[in-house]
Amino acid sequence: MTKMTQDELKTQVGQAALRYVVKGDIVGVGTGSTVNKFIEALASVKGDIKGAVSSSEASTVRLKALGIPVFDANAVGELAVYIDGADEIDGQGNMVKGGGAALTREKIVAAQSRQFVCIADESKRVQTLGKFPLPVEVVPMATARLIRQFAGIGGTAVVRLKDGQPLVTDNGLHLIDVTGLQLSDPLAFETQVSQWPGVLTVGVFAQQRAQVCLLGTASGVETLTFK
Ligand code: A5P
Repeated sequence: MTKMTQDELKTQVGQAALRYVVKGDIVGVGTGSTVNKFIEALASVKGDIKGAVSSSEASTVRLKALGIPVFDANAVGELAVYIDGADEIDGQGNMVKGGGAALTREKIVAAQSRQFVCIADESKRVQTLGKFPLPVEVVPMATARLIRQFAGIGGTAVVRLKDGQPLVTDNGLHLIDVTGLQLSDPLAFETQVSQWPGVLTVGVFAQQRAQVCLLGTASGVETLTFK
């Protein structure tokens, strides 16, 4: 068998996620290259669902282009399922997210959903979170202080740039990416850093961790479930 490319693994899990989509319902949709595969798959069953709540402007554009209605999160109640990728996922379903800059809305839609189904290729599975630079969405006037605050706990934070300027998120704020942190207790870390003044969202998803992960591997899609 020829080795599957990362792109093919993403396609595989994007399609596999369809089995979690509830007919006649509204589905929560994440952001990123893996979710883009899911959105393509979702278009093939769009007649069976009411539509989606989207976690980013980028996903909204893709959903609408494929004829999938997008609902405002405020206009709908609790969602049965939220489907999204991750930058890292550990053995308990805790994740690092935000590589695509959409972490805040991702956490919001995840919080509005009963079940988080993570779709990822096997490169995302880790023993302990922390190798991937941790995205944190911040209020710009707090950036320099937050960089110092992360340095105080051993982290090195840099402002994420786009075309030489601080990247502006969908929420009009900035992002810093932090390396060198120990994330051995993701829930405690998320709880602590979320309280720092000027932090809008930290990219650790422990409170909104995944209940299921569809992991694309060379031998097929593995379904991991977390208690
Ligand atoms: C977007 O902000 C992220 O949280 C993505 O879910 C994450 O970066 C995974 O993206 P890929 O599927 O592109 O790897």
